[in-house]
Amino acid sequence: MAVWSLWCLHLWAALLPIADTGAQVQGKVGGSVLLVAECPHGFQVREAIWRSLWPSEELLATSFRGSLETLYHSRFLGRTQLHSNLSLELWPLESGDSGNFSVLLVDTGGRAWTRILQLKVYDAVPRPMVQVFIALLGDGQPPKTCQALLSCRVPNISDITYSWRQEGTIDFGIEPHGLFMDGQVLRVSLEPGDKDVAYSCIVSNPVSWDSTTVIPWKSCHHEAVKTYYKDVLLVVVPVSLFLILAGLFSAWHWGACSGKRKKDVCADGVVLETESPLV
Ligand SMILES: *[C@@H]1O[C@H](CO)[C@@H](O)[C@H](O)[C@H]1NC(C)=O
Ligand SMILES: *[C@@H]1O[C@H](CO)[C@@H](O)[C@H](O)[C@H]1NC(C)=O
Ligand SMILES: *[C@@H]1O[C@H](CO)[C@@H](O)[C@H](O)[C@H]1NC(C)=O
Repeated sequence: MAVWSLWCLHLWAALLPIADTGAQVQGKVGGSVLLVAECPHGFQVREAIWRSLWPSEELLATSFRGSLETLYHSRFLGRTQLHSNLSLELWPLESGDSGNFSVLLVDTGGRAWTRILQLKVYDAVPRPMVQVFIALLGDGQPPKTCQALLSCRVPNISDITYSWRQEGTIDFGIEPHGLFMDGQVLRVSLEPGDKDVAYSCIVSNPVSWDSTTVIPWKSCHHEAVKTYYKDVLLVVVPVSLFLILAGLFSAWHWGACSGKRKKDVCADGVVLETESPLV
C-alpha cells in the first residue's frame, strides 16, 4: 500500500527540533497573505493541520492522505485556500484577522512538527489631511518671513508613522528640531523666495503609505494679496472702469477681516487653512 506524502518548504535546519515559533507575517485589509508551512529537511508530510489559535481556537484546513480540506466552520470559512505545497492562503483579509496561527505537520514516520505564525493585519492608510497655520506679523505689513506650522492628520487609524519631505530636495531636508508630536507637526520658516516650496506629509504603516503635498506660502499670502490689489489700484491700471471694479474688490477684501469671516481667519493672528492636495 502506498504511503501518501507531500513536501513542505524546507528550513535550513540540520537537526530536527520539534517546533518553530514566532514567524511574523504582515497583511493588508482586503489583500491576501500566504502562511508558509516550512519544516525541517527530509520531512515527508503525511498530514497537515492548520489552526487559528487566537482569539478562539479554530480548525482552518487539513491535508489528510493527500486530500486537502478547508470547509471547516470558522471565521475564515470561504476565505482560505490550501495549496499543494501546504501553504495556507487567506483572502480577503479583514482587520480582525490578526492573531496566531499554527500548522501541525506529521511525517510518514509519525514524527510531528509544529510551526506558529503571527499574523498582523493593517488597514491601508488613507490620504492624510494637511492644515497650514500661519503666525501673522504686524498689521497691514506684508510679512517678510512667514512662520508656518504644518499639521498632518489621518482619521481613525493606529500604527502610523509620519514623515515630511521638502519637494525638490535630494536629501530629505527636514531638520528634526522642526518636528513636533511624533512628526505630525512641522514648523517651517519661509521667505518670499520660498513661495513655490512644497512640503509633503507622508504617512505609512508596514503595508502601505500615502502623501499630501502643500505649498505653505500660499497661506502666508493673505496680507500680501491686499497690498497687491492696492498697487494695481493706484499705479498700474489707468482705466477708470477697471479702477472702480478693482476698488470694489479691494474693499471686499479689506472687509473680509471685519466681516463674518473674522472669527476663523483673523482671530489671534493665526490663519488656519486646509489645503486641498495637489494632484
Ligand atoms: C502569539 O504568539 C507569540 C509568540 O509565540 C506570543 O508572544 C503572543 O502572545 C501570541 N499572541 C496571541 C494574541 O496569542
Ligand atoms: C506554494 O504554492 C502557492 C500557490 O501555487 C505559491 O503561490 C507559493 O509561492 C508556493 N510556495 C510557498 C513557499 O508557499
Ligand atoms: C472611525 O472609527 C469609528 C469607530 O471605530 C467608525 O464608526 C467610523 O466610521 C470611523 N470613521 C472613519 C472616517 O473611518
